[in-house]
Amino acid sequence: MDAIAKNASILVAGARGMVGSALVRRLQAGGYTRVLAPLRQELDLMDQAAVHGYLQGHTPGYIFIAAAKVGGIQANNTYRADFIYQNLTIQNNLIHGAHLAGIQRLMFLGSSCIYPKQAPQPIKEEYLLTGVLEPTNEPYAIAKIAGIKMCEAYNAQYGRQYTSAMPTNLYGPNDNYDLANSHVLPALIRKAHEAQLRGDAELEVWGSGAPRREFLYVDDLADACIFLMERGFDGPLINIGTGADVTIRELAETVMRVVGFPGRIVYDHTKPDGTSRKLMDSSQINRLGWKPAVALEDGVGRAYRDFLGR
Ligand SMILES: NC(=O)c1ccc[n+]([C@@H]2O[C@H](COP(=O)([O-])OP(=O)(O)OC[C@H]3O[C@@H](n4cnc5c(N)ncnc54)[C@H](OP(=O)(O)O)[C@@H]3O)[C@@H](O)[C@H]2O)c1
Repeated sequence: MDAIAKNASILVAGARGMVGSALVRRLQAGGYTRVLAPLRQELDLMDQAAVHGYLQGHTPGYIFIAAAKVGGIQANNTYRADFIYQNLTIQNNLIHGAHLAGIQRLMFLGSSCIYPKQAPQPIKEEYLLTGVLEPTNEPYAIAKIAGIKMCEAYNAQYGRQYTSAMPTNLYGPNDNYDLANSHVLPALIRKAHEAQLRGDAELEVWGSGAPRREFLYVDDLADACIFLMERGFDGPLINIGTGADVTIRELAETVMRVVGFPGRIVYDHTKPDGTSRKLMDSSQINRLGWKPAVALEDGVGRAYRDFLGR
């Protein structure tokens, strides 16, 4: 076990985001006293000189890269140039800058949605780059894959210990509830809440409700990332999921119970279902001794309370 000193300096890039804020919460709760969490106004991660200057000035011992341009299908498909350019630039600035500043340990955040579209289920780490990507988010996926390969290359050439975490679909505090570019779970929370306020009889759900998806509460993800960093994990990439999936119908029913919306679900069959099943194989991290703590209904309840508090 490669424990991290409680007074080690730890940089969380993207600290205001859903994942970054969960990492900061979990680090502070774990007694870490020197968590660096610059916001965009203090450090624009698109600015190479500023990022390199920051890293050389602060020389954190550990970096978590939770900064990225993130969105749902619609945003990924519409802003294709922004997704590839901004993600490549942010990660290039941080990964190369970390190397130049002599920083040995870094964790990059990948995603389950960058595995091949037709990957066998459950998805194992070794399936990366074995098939064609989902076309709607290809620019985002290519940038993320470049980040993973960049970490591997700095490890091979310079002996760094840069690793990549591959989370499944996440949800929780500080999620994006804007229907124009949100993911399915926060979108359902918002739609069910608004349907309840209006006294609607029905909740509209995109597609058939049959696809199966996996959802991880973001504080569990933060716990897994810190668990891996504390244990000195330096493999190239590792999946982080719950190991269990639900149908979109079951998800919508869970959200409706939590929100207290008594209506019925209607399915909009004009909207696409996407892949029929997406489940990660998280046996590698399970074998290391980590498992999630928050069950779906409990997590949706916590997320809904966060939504109400906005
Ligand atoms: N959400 C999911 O379901 C999910 C699933 C798998 C993997 N991931 C991965 O987890 C990571 C974090 O995702 P998230 O859901 O936490 O996204 P998020 O809530 O959108 O957070 C992203 C953060 O990056 C920051 N950022 C973006 N561009 C920046 C810039 N130029 N300078 C400074 N900061 C910048 C944003 O700052 P502002 O707050 O100022 O905009 C925001 O705080 C991403 O790599 C994503 O691919 C997410």
